[in-house]
Amino acid sequence: MGRGTIPGMTDVQNLLGALAAIDEHWQPHRVTSLNDYDIKVVKVLGEFVWHSHPETDELFLVLSGRLTIQLRDGDVELGPNDVFVVPQGVEHCPRAEVETSVVLIEPKGTVNTGDAGGPMTSALRELPGAQ
Ligand code: NI
Repeated sequence: MGRGTIPGMTDVQNLLGALAAIDEHWQPHRVTSLNDYDIKVVKVLGEFVWHSHPETDELFLVLSGRLTIQLRDGDVELGPNDVFVVPQGVEHCPRAEVETSVVLIEPKGTVNTGDAGGPMTSALRELPGAQ
């Protein structure tokens, strides 16, 4: 099946193409969604903020680069193709020494800074050209 619009269906999306359209760090963009979940891509660099998500688990899939997910009990190191789920309510603080591309899977409405708020809170962005 090629690319293009099929009535009643979403278009084929490409993760690398989606990432190429993003130039800000720590700002998740929706690629697609299923049921009550969004599939997002985000470019990260530097340190985020400590936070937790009281209502949901959060899945990280690293596409390129290297992501350290700091947890209160120790760090988790993720490289390309590594997947890790931060459980609901567990404090975490992602950090990347090099620009890193990540897929996030979490329920619609999940806020990137969880319960912490603050200046790094980002409304979910739509990709350029997305409906
Ligand atoms: Ni989080």
